[in-house]
Amino acid sequence: MTLPVLDAPISPLRQRLIDDMNMRRFSLETQRNYLRDIAGNGNGIGGAVVAEFDGRIAGLAAGLEVLGKAPSEDLRRYSRLRQKAQRGRTFIDLLYQPALSFRAPAEGDVIACRCEEVSVGAIRAAAVSGVAGPNQLKTMLRCGMGPCQGRMCAATVAELLADTQHRPQAEVGTYRLRPPIKPVPLSEIAALPHTPEAVYAVTGTHSEH
Ligand code: FES
Repeated sequence: MTLPVLDAPISPLRQRLIDDMNMRRFSLETQRNYLRDIAGNGNGIGGAVVAEFDGRIAGLAAGLEVLGKAPSEDLRRYSRLRQKAQRGRTFIDLLYQPALSFRAPAEGDVIACRCEEVSVGAIRAAAVSGVAGPNQLKTMLRCGMGPCQGRMCAATVAELLADTQHRPQAEVGTYRLRPPIKPVPLSEIAALPHTPEAVYAVTGTHSEH
């Protein structure tokens, strides 16, 4: 697909989001709209300066696309400045990384996934048995499938797998991201009040009845 920011590297998180949307056969237009609407720190925590450039890039790219124009010099400049600002964040992350005992505790009874109450011990045991990665772990233990959808436990689970299996964390990966879209049963739509506006919203036509 054509991304709004053509010369900016795609973050691993964003790439996973694209892969997931492709797997679900979302149309290119839906994918573009979805990516365009993610700006600022919703696109990953990079700090205030990165968030500001994210917003500028998203807004400018959307405007250029609507006008059918090619990426402008401003867009390229913002992308370069964003990359530069992101380097500082990487440095801070490395410098102030919490100790491994916090990121991947040794105590087996510590809860790693709070939503599904999955312990560190259960995750380490699965890691020893050869689980391939966080997504397989989801199907085995349900970690990452709670109300927060892995937002609170993804990093811990990846660290635990990497630490137990002696693999780099980049190779272990993380949960596949799910777009915040929920299926709606037809019964719920049918139960809506049948006002002219509601009928138009669902059918796209103005009914006489
Ligand atoms: S903490 Fe694991 S799914 Fe919420």
